[in-house]
Amino acid sequence: MSAPDGLLLEVNDLAMRYAVRRRSPFEARRYVHAVNGIDIRLRHGETLGIVGESGCGKTTLARCILRLLEPTRGRIVLNGRDITHAKGGELRAARRDMQFVFQDPYASLDPRLRAVDLVREPLDALSTLSRAEANERAIGLLEKVGLTRAQAQRYPHQFSGGQRQRIGIARALALNPKLVLADEPVSALDVSIRAQILNLMAALREELGLSYIVISHDLAIIDHVCDRVAIIYLGRIVEQGEVADVFNRPRHPYTQALLAAVPHHDPRQRRRAAEIVGDLPNPTAPPPGCTFHPRCPKATDLCKRVAPQTTTTDGHDVACHHPD
Ligand SMILES: Nc1ncnc2c1ncn2[C@@H]1O[C@H](COP(=O)(O)OP(=O)(O)O)[C@@H](O)[C@H]1O
Ligand SMILES: [Mg+2]
Repeated sequence: MSAPDGLLLEVNDLAMRYAVRRRSPFEARRYVHAVNGIDIRLRHGETLGIVGESGCGKTTLARCILRLLEPTRGRIVLNGRDITHAKGGELRAARRDMQFVFQDPYASLDPRLRAVDLVREPLDALSTLSRAEANERAIGLLEKVGLTRAQAQRYPHQFSGGQRQRIGIARALALNPKLVLADEPVSALDVSIRAQILNLMAALREELGLSYIVISHDLAIIDHVCDRVAIIYLGRIVEQGEVADVFNRPRHPYTQALLAAVPHHDPRQRRRAAEIVGDLPNPTAPPPGCTFHPRCPKATDLCKRVAPQTTTTDGHDVACHHPD
C-alpha cells in the first residue's frame, strides 16, 4: 500500500526522552530530551540529510524512525501506516521496509560470519526464500555493491573498511527496503574512499528507487548526496529545505555559523556570519526560549523568553525570531 500523497515517511512532533540515572533516590528525576518535537516529510525516491553537532539527537531520531526505540511523543507514518507503537508482525513488516547502515563497518559486522552469511542473515530471518535461493540472492547483492563471488566467502577481517561498508550496504538491501537510514555512513572510512561509497549509494538509489535519510556532520557529504536537508539543534529542527536553498541562502543563525565554519571555494559563501561560540548546552537543562539563544549573535530579549515557531517560505522552513 502506498500513501496517496506520494509520501514514504511522515514524522509529526516526534519526541524521545531518556531518564538520567540518579545518584541517589533523593535526587529529582531528570530527563534528556534527545528529540524534542521533530517534523519530517520524505517523498518516494528522495534523500534527506540530517545535520547537527554531536549530541543533538540525530542517532536517537534515526532509532525512533526505525522503531528500535519507542518514541515518548508524536507519530511516525510509513507508507500510509502508523507505526509509532507497532508491535509483533506489524513491526516486522515495517522493519523490512526500513534498513540501517551503520557508522562503523568494523564494529557492526559479526567477525565469525562470511560476507555471504552476513547478507543472508536478514533473508533467513524475514524472507521465505530457500537456503539456496537466499545464498544466490546474497551473492548477487554482494556483486551489486562491487564485490566478487569469491570475496563472498571471506570473513570481515579480510576486507578493507570501504569493502566492509559495501557488505553493510548489501546487507541493508537484502530485504528490498524502501527506506535506508545511514548514520554517518562514511565518517569511519578513509577520506580517499568516501566518494566511492557515496557514489555507490547514489547509484543504488537510482537503480532500486530507494529513499535515504543520511545523517552526517559533514556538510559537503550532505551537499553531494541529498535533495533536502534538516538542520538539528538540541533535538529540534531549526531549518529545513532543499539543499541548494538552505546552503546558498541559510536563514537561521545556527546554519549560517555551520556553513561559515566550512572552508569554501566560493567567495560569496565566505560570509560574515559569526562563528558559533560555546558548547552545546546541558541537554537535561536546556535554555528557556530559543535553545540556541546563548550562542546566537542575534539573540534579543524575545529569544530568551519565547521559543520560536517554525515558519515556511517557498518550502524552506526556519524556526527563528530573526531569520534572514
Ligand atoms: N541510551 C541513552 N540514555 C541516556 N541518554 C542518552 C542515550 N542515548 C543518547 N543519550 C543522550 O541523548 C542526546 C542525543 O544523543 P544522540 O541521539 O546520540 O545524538 P547524536 O547522534 O546527534 O550525537 C545526548 O545528550 C546523549 O547523551
Ligand atoms: Mg550519533
